[in-house]
Amino acid sequence: MTSTARVPDHLDDDALQTVTLTVNGSQRTVAVPTHRTLLDGLREEVGLPGTKSCCAEGECGACTVLLDGKAVNSCLVLCVEAEGHEVTTVEGLSADGLTDLQEEFLAAGAVQCGFCIPGQVVSAEYLLRTNPSPDETQIREALSGNLCRCAGYQRIVRAVQATAARRSER
Ligand code: FES
Ligand code: FES
Repeated sequence: MTSTARVPDHLDDDALQTVTLTVNGSQRTVAVPTHRTLLDGLREEVGLPGTKSCCAEGECGACTVLLDGKAVNSCLVLCVEAEGHEVTTVEGLSADGLTDLQEEFLAAGAVQCGFCIPGQVVSAEYLLRTNPSPDETQIREALSGNLCRCAGYQRIVRAVQATAARRSER
């Protein structure tokens, strides 16, 4: 005889809530269970797979997005909490083509399997917007929440340094 685990009422997938977010400059309205994360909402409801899903515990940084301009782990934010806020994903950063930061990631050979790169790019972009001339320690600190299984950290740091230098010449 088989038994079916009872889903608690507050996790019932039928309990959908309508949420309106601004994603990459466009208003998007989605209907999600109240326990669904922003990460899931972006990937599954809005259809933006650039934000990666990995640990779902705030440990790896693969899911990093900008929420009202600040880098956050989208796996730790409920979709309903993002109601009325502005979300920028890696797709939004590169809406007009590769950014200078992404170009420098490629030039530095920092992209290996690529899985962590969207999160790294979003975190690095946040750093450069808040501190346009970071030193190496500041770069490593800012990216310390973004894990790279391919261990391309040195090249990632070089890419951020090159972007900072490039922007300082504008
Ligand atoms: S998936 Fe969000 S921090 Fe790992
Ligand atoms: S490039 Fe493979 S996990 Fe970072």
